Amino acid sequence: MELSRHSSIILSITIVTTFVSFVKSSLPQGLQTLNISSEISTDPNITASFATDFGNLFNCTPGAVFYPSSPNDIATLIRFSYTSSKPLPISQRGRGHSTYGQTLVPDGILIDMSSLGHTNYSRINVTEGPFPYADVGAEQLWIDVLNATLKRDLMPRMLTDYLYLTVGGTLSNAGISGQEFKQGPQISNVYELDVVTGTYI
Ligand SMILES: Cc1cc2nc3c(=O)[nH]c(=O)nc-3n(C[C@H](O)[C@H](O)[C@H](O)COP(=O)(O)OP(=O)(O)OC[C@H]3O[C@@H](n4cnc5c(N)ncnc54)[C@H](O)[C@@H]3O)c2cc1C
Ligand SMILES: *[C@@H]1O[C@H](CO)[C@@H](O)[C@H](O)[C@H]1NC(C)=O
Ligand SMILES: *[C@@H]1O[C@H](CO)[C@@H](O)[C@H](O)[C@H]1NC(C)=O
Ligand SMILES: *[C@@H]1O[C@H](CO)[C@@H](O)[C@H](O)[C@H]1NC(C)=O
Ligand SMILES: *[C@@H]1O[C@H](CO)[C@@H](O)[C@H](O)[C@H]1NC(C)=O
Ligand SMILES: *[C@@H]1O[C@H](CO)[C@@H](O)[C@H](O)[C@H]1NC(C)=O
Repeated sequence: MELSRHSSIILSITIVTTFVSFVKSSLPQGLQTLNISSEISTDPNITASFATDFGNLFNCTPGAVFYPSSPNDIATLIRFSYTSSKPLPISQRGRGHSTYGQTLVPDGILIDMSSLGHTNYSRINVTEGPFPYADVGAEQLWIDVLNATLKRDLMPRMLTDYLYLTVGGTLSNAGISGQEFKQGPQISNVYELDVVTGTYI
């Protein structure tokens, strides 16, 4: 592949806030009445598969796994939590490649961010011009962002060494690699983040 004319690219991404309460609780009944209830699974076979991460140091099963189909679905969950008398612990997972239990949420709800990428429309939009940038879903893998940008003869200014990590996952820990001495970490190359709160967009 001809790689000689790559210019730099800056990211704009969709990211989700962490809203974690440390209160251990069983899942409230009211969850079943939300319009997102069909996207929430309490199947023990499913929750068990989200009980650990790459580091395999901790094992705590979430009470449920949430497969949102839009950022607004996540807003619905967060809104439900903060209007409850006892807020729900919520965490989110990209590919679970963190090593110290960062995604784990004992008895709470784990959001499987990869389900946002299952929708049909493209979640990686590359814009050319004098200041090229990519607008991507935080659930996307860096390998796919690179693939999409290379088609325009562009590449992200800063990549991690290992590319099968999600955009939201690496930005949560800055995103580092050998190019950092020159470009700064990935998080320093972001124009804009959409933070999902309990407000609909
Ligand atoms: C083989 C391997 C190679 C690695 N190489 C590098 C490297 O070169 N450079 C580097 O910087 N790191 C590297 N890492 C570390 C990696 O960047 C972090 O572990 C990263 O957090 C994992 O990415 P993930 O997408 O699997 O995120 P997860 O582990 O799923 O999540 C990490 C954190 O981000 C949060 N999060 C995930 N998605 C979102 C979202 N959409 N919105 C808000 N928060 C979110 C999670 O709640 C969690 O706190 C490597 C890890 C492994 C296992
Ligand atoms: C739930 O309701 C919100 C607000 O109306 C909407 O944006 C979202 O798409 C709905 N989700 C589902 C799965 O119907
Ligand atoms: C969980 O998996 C086991 C073993 O495959 C199976 O016997 C059981 O029916 C599954 N439970 C549910 C709720 O799907
Ligand atoms: C997704 O793709 C299917 C099959 O092509 C199509 O019927 C459906 O309308 C698409 N949905 C969206 C949201 O684009
Ligand atoms: C990418 O563009 C499509 C079509 O305009 C749009 O529906 C989608 O929301 C965009 N995705 C992102 C992550 O901006
Ligand atoms: C890049 O995208 C093309 C399709 O556009 C696909 O055939 C190829 O496998 C992708 N490469 C990687 C490394 O994902």
